[in-house]
Amino acid sequence: MSKKINDKITWVGKTDWELKKFHGDEFTTINGSSYNSYLIRDEKTVLIDTAWLPYDKEYVSKLEEEIPLNKIDAIIALHGEVDHSGALIELMNKIPNVPIYCTANGIKSIKGQYHKDWNFIPVKTGDTLNLGENTITFIEAPMLHWPDTMFAYMDKEKVLFSSDGFGEHLASEHLYADEVEEDLLFKEALKYYANILAPFSLMVTKKINEILAMNLEISMICPSHGLIWRKNPEKIIEKYLEWANNYKENQITIIYDTMWNDTRKMAENIARGIQNKDKNVTIKLMNTAKDDKTDVLTEVFKSKIVLVGSPTVNNGYLHSIAGILEMIRGMKLKDKKAAAFGSYGWSGEAVKLITEELKKAGLEIINDGIRVFWTPDEQEEKRLQEYGESIAEI
Ligand code: FEO
Repeated sequence: MSKKINDKITWVGKTDWELKKFHGDEFTTINGSSYNSYLIRDEKTVLIDTAWLPYDKEYVSKLEEEIPLNKIDAIIALHGEVDHSGALIELMNKIPNVPIYCTANGIKSIKGQYHKDWNFIPVKTGDTLNLGENTITFIEAPMLHWPDTMFAYMDKEKVLFSSDGFGEHLASEHLYADEVEEDLLFKEALKYYANILAPFSLMVTKKINEILAMNLEISMICPSHGLIWRKNPEKIIEKYLEWANNYKENQITIIYDTMWNDTRKMAENIARGIQNKDKNVTIKLMNTAKDDKTDVLTEVFKSKIVLVGSPTVNNGYLHSIAGILEMIRGMKLKDKKAAAFGSYGWSGEAVKLITEELKKAGLEIINDGIRVFWTPDEQEEKRLQEYGESIAEI
């Protein structure tokens, strides 16, 4: 079902209430998502992005209800990832000669996935497409979050089409951010930033400052996922600048895996010690084998200190910790402190090995970590709590 935004712009995307996983199984989307596609009717008619591949036929048939496809003068592909380009094959089978405006990297990514030699028009920052009353200006935004990404600014309507930037995975019957619960909206927007955009924070800051320096009047930001920012669009821009600037809250997150609960007991006693010392700090305990990894990464992103625990197993550590350490490495976090902990009965290398991985991931190592031989007894519980108190004092 299409939704009219104003006289010139209509939303023609797909709301995916069923989506629970994204990027394969990497990202959980418990609140679904949407693939936003925008139809602009000026003197020229232009389509911005499409929808994910499984919905290609549904997307094109709904689009045909909105407009005869032969009326579309141009397609703008802001980003080549399949959740936005997936319906192109179905669409281009019907209108094969319509030009597709995208970046040079966009041509590479779209050709690389669909192996079609469509009528691509490469564009760079500052290039324009005159639609009649409005002119679209293209703004390359490489690594937000793919090399091919670009934004598009529609001047008279003052609308910024921002691809994956400023979006969130949140299915809604509504179209606008001001129509949904604000806490949930920003929680999902932060989760999206932490899990997808965090590694590119330097580019996020640079691109936002570049756009601010262009003095564009922005009345609305239309992202490729989730809700449209209609009221105070500057709020999400300010949030992005905050998140991109080594973001941290007054939070310590303790992530661990455990075989027979000894490392869990360590985590709980460290947490008790932290709380004894500092009643104001938020403490999160997360078992990486049980908790959602997308949520774990979001909590890590929000933290000032991250403690990572595993028992020693086969001269190493448990696989869920290995997976999370790899994901943390990929986030390219800065200005976060970390340490390791874990129980052992034999060789006991896990703490040292985890510490090395945390260091390689760019976290600042607070100390050599803490180990407990087998199960913590009363004396060891006290030592763990004291360790927690020392963490709280950092
Ligand atoms: Fe929503 Fe990077 O695609």
